[in-house]
Amino acid sequence: MIKLEHILAGCLILFSACTNNEGMKSKEDQFVDELLSKMTLEEKIGQMNQYTSHWEMTGPAPKNASSQKRLEDIKSGRVGSMLNVFGAQATYEAQKLAVENSRLGIPMIFAYDVIHGFKTMAPIPLAEACAWDPEISKLSSRLSAKEASAAGLHWTFAPMMDVGRDARWGRVMEGCGEDPYLASVLSVARVQGFQGEDLTKENTIAACAKHFAAYAFAEAGREYNTVDIGTYTLHNIVLPPFKAVANNNVCTFMNAFNIMNGKPATADPYLQRNLLKDEWNYDGYIVSDWGSIKEIELHGAAESVKHAAELAIKAGSDMDMESNAYLPYLKELVEEGKLEESLIDVRRILKVKYKLGLFEDPYKYSNTERENQTLYSKESREGARKIARHSMVLLKNNEQLLPLSKQARSIAVIGPLATDKNSPLGSWRAQAVKNSAVSLLEGIKNAVPTTTKINYAKGCDLATGDRNFLDELNFAGADKSLITAAINTATKSDVIVMALGEDCFQSGEGRSQTDIRLKGAQMELYNAIRKLNKKIIVVLMNGRPLAIPEIAESADAILEAWFAGSEAGNAIADVLFGDFNPSGKLTMSFPWNVGQCPIYYNHMNTGRPENTGNVFWSHYTDAPNTPLYPFGYGLSYTNFKYGTAKTNKETFTKNEFVKLELPLSNMGDMAGEEIVQVYIQDPAATYARPVKELKAFKKIKLAAKEEQKISFKLNSKDFGYYSPEGEFLFEPGLYHIYVGANSRDVQKIAVNFID
Ligand code: NOJ
Repeated sequence: MIKLEHILAGCLILFSACTNNEGMKSKEDQFVDELLSKMTLEEKIGQMNQYTSHWEMTGPAPKNASSQKRLEDIKSGRVGSMLNVFGAQATYEAQKLAVENSRLGIPMIFAYDVIHGFKTMAPIPLAEACAWDPEISKLSSRLSAKEASAAGLHWTFAPMMDVGRDARWGRVMEGCGEDPYLASVLSVARVQGFQGEDLTKENTIAACAKHFAAYAFAEAGREYNTVDIGTYTLHNIVLPPFKAVANNNVCTFMNAFNIMNGKPATADPYLQRNLLKDEWNYDGYIVSDWGSIKEIELHGAAESVKHAAELAIKAGSDMDMESNAYLPYLKELVEEGKLEESLIDVRRILKVKYKLGLFEDPYKYSNTERENQTLYSKESREGARKIARHSMVLLKNNEQLLPLSKQARSIAVIGPLATDKNSPLGSWRAQAVKNSAVSLLEGIKNAVPTTTKINYAKGCDLATGDRNFLDELNFAGADKSLITAAINTATKSDVIVMALGEDCFQSGEGRSQTDIRLKGAQMELYNAIRKLNKKIIVVLMNGRPLAIPEIAESADAILEAWFAGSEAGNAIADVLFGDFNPSGKLTMSFPWNVGQCPIYYNHMNTGRPENTGNVFWSHYTDAPNTPLYPFGYGLSYTNFKYGTAKTNKETFTKNEFVKLELPLSNMGDMAGEEIVQVYIQDPAATYARPVKELKAFKKIKLAAKEEQKISFKLNSKDFGYYSPEGEFLFEPGLYHIYVGANSRDVQKIAVNFID
């Protein structure tokens, strides 16, 4: 019998760098080759099979037949990976089943959706992206990795890098927003945070780039819906973040539920084999999304689950998550001559296991002592608070109402989210304890002296995540007694903070919405308080851009706090009272109303972009074309002045850098950070280009009254783009460069590229 120790004996030094003398195989390849040579076809197929956990690993053995079968599958080497098993003890027990019973003792790889924290929640990814700060993104995934790995996990299904343009789609909360360049920069940082410098370390985990590809382009923003975008959008908008992380060693990819141009992504050889594995030379493995192999049949692109398995493996999907399609059918398909045996190739999967050090010690992550020390630690919570402060976006601040003085006589805290300790945890909350977040009311009370009177009223109930438009139609109206109590609370207070937004389960997977206004009685409550003519600060907690035109118009200040995680209330208070000067900027446009969705800054121009004075130009007759708040927008407690930007010259050749310089001054009395953004436009290209495309940004810290020269370097690649066939083009000619504080408020410079 060959056991793990026999395999290991063949390897002198494990986990050394993979590079070797020319022509020599790396240690990793030698190890994997040797292991592969010992594996039967069934054992290889087993490595491609991933099951979810349906039972307590440390508890009694499962009783029902299907669970019994799964247990037997694990013991006999027919399971390469499990998801949803976590905890040092549970993963230890599960691993033991595989390692001690199967013929080769190959360890399983344990995966879980650790999206923005394991037990301590950082802000949701859309919020974290608003920091426009790779270090913040890295910190967030680093903290997640530390906790997840201490709970025995090896692999997270994150980051999601689907570029999201449609606020109706509930999963925009999980990505970086609407821009492919920003999503590339931040996704690379997130991967680095999860995977660290050295994957064999016990506190790093493998990351997973998902969902490959175009899942966010579901028609009408409806979850799992058809995607029908052209290859021009695919190459220029959807793929860049994936390419960026593939080039930066992300260990795995996940394919997607959707069809695109009639092909289910899971069965698409162009995406997975031709592009990712061949053209991009990616050597990690691809896991299917949950059940996405069997869904090929439901899409109407396969005759049976067996046929779907054949299509998926031929297309390049390496691991079957919960379709139960590979284990029962792959061998049959080989025997029937429908599948080349060489396609049952688990080298990629074994290599990731090797990189994680699982062959050296399959139990290395399952350490209860470390688990006890790491989960919900002070370090995690301090980190979460820091990330949350950087994620918040100040949308409005009339007459410098914010920051508030901690010495105010009285502050009313009103709204259904004011005491909510659950919603701030957001969707995709892994093992966060329900109701464990610091609420806004608690955060405010923690921040002010006891002499400041805090008056609280709920005002109305929060609509739940399941509430649909019929509930809204049949809504009987607000509970008047709650509104009256809120009016009384507001009347006796100097200033009013209102916590409004969404229930945390209105966004996330399976939570698309057709109405993105504030639900339930929230507007009725807001309008009732508004009538008092007192200063109102609205704190928004939500997982997507909302349509809030009335609030934008009439509130005195608006802070977009998102679902800010475990330390939400403290972090919001840090911003409200000026212990932290807000610096976040939106990474998704906020529409005036849902009818504008999808709305995004990097749109095409149309043939009729200008208001001609008659009706025949590209517009709505009942709403502007522009968003309520544009991409890149966000205020600070201080004022930044942009001086005139200049390039080093006007005409450039392909090999020259465009150097852009501008003075930036902090005009106020408070230090602050400003995110300076650089966009380009190609006004006349072979294929029409967007009106603006983000190409660079810098977050600049300036002391009160300080001025700095800010410089950027762009190369000709930054001015290029992909043709619909995926060919990278750079076309000499006129370009516009825009620089400014957001995608709307910019100054323009023209440059020329010559051959
Ligand atoms: C389905 C989701 O689309 C995917 O993102 C997630 O990782 C899997 N379920 C596993 O939970």
